[in-house]
Amino acid sequence: MENINDFDGFVISQAQNKHLYTLTKLTQRYFPYANFTFEEVIRRFNDPNITYLVAISKGITIGFIDFSIKENNTVQLLGLAVLEEYRNKGIGKALMNAMFSKLNLIENERKMKINSIELMVAQDNLPAQKLYFDCGFEKKGLLNRKIFDKEVAIFVKDYKAV
Ligand SMILES: CC(C)(COP(=O)(O)OP(=O)(O)OC[C@H]1O[C@@H](n2cnc3c(N)ncnc32)[C@H](O)[C@@H]1OP(=O)(O)O)[C@@H](O)C(=O)NCCC(=O)NCCS
Repeated sequence: MENINDFDGFVISQAQNKHLYTLTKLTQRYFPYANFTFEEVIRRFNDPNITYLVAISKGITIGFIDFSIKENNTVQLLGLAVLEEYRNKGIGKALMNAMFSKLNLIENERKMKINSIELMVAQDNLPAQKLYFDCGFEKKGLLNRKIFDKEVAIFVKDYKAV
């Protein structure tokens, strides 16, 4: 594991073409069941309704979040991941807050109102669920099927621009 004793912060920005390879690697590592190819990540990156944000430290992409705005003005959080050695430093929470800020901008640009944000998370993924509760999400129930033999919880947050 990389030594990050000299970790001195990170920035979050909108992903660019140069991040696509790492985004593919992170997606394949943390969401292997999605079976995403490089081409699929490019397709999503170019989808005007999907936004990727990346967390960068010293030129390394250490985490990302991506979300999609659906036709009914709900947002689907698609993926959120931080490299193991950078966890518990507030980067996951910062990525969530960056998504909220970006949604405020999108609402203004597109002159629309977002109703809610939804996401799915493995029922046994307690670190992620803690983060979602901290960010104001509520657990709405379980998906009616398992994914890779795991129960999946549905989380929802009523969205109000801040
Ligand atoms: C979920 C994930 C993104 C959190 O990233 P992170 O950068 O560690 O999150 P933060 O440091 O912002 O932590 C947010 C909160 O969760 C808590 N937390 C983080 N890791 C934890 C753990 N292993 N156990 C318990 N709580 C944990 C932190 O203490 C923090 O709470 P606090 O603000 O009260 O201290 C990260 O664990 C991850 O990438 N997991 C693998 C991919 C994944 O499961 N993504 C979600 C799929 S829906």
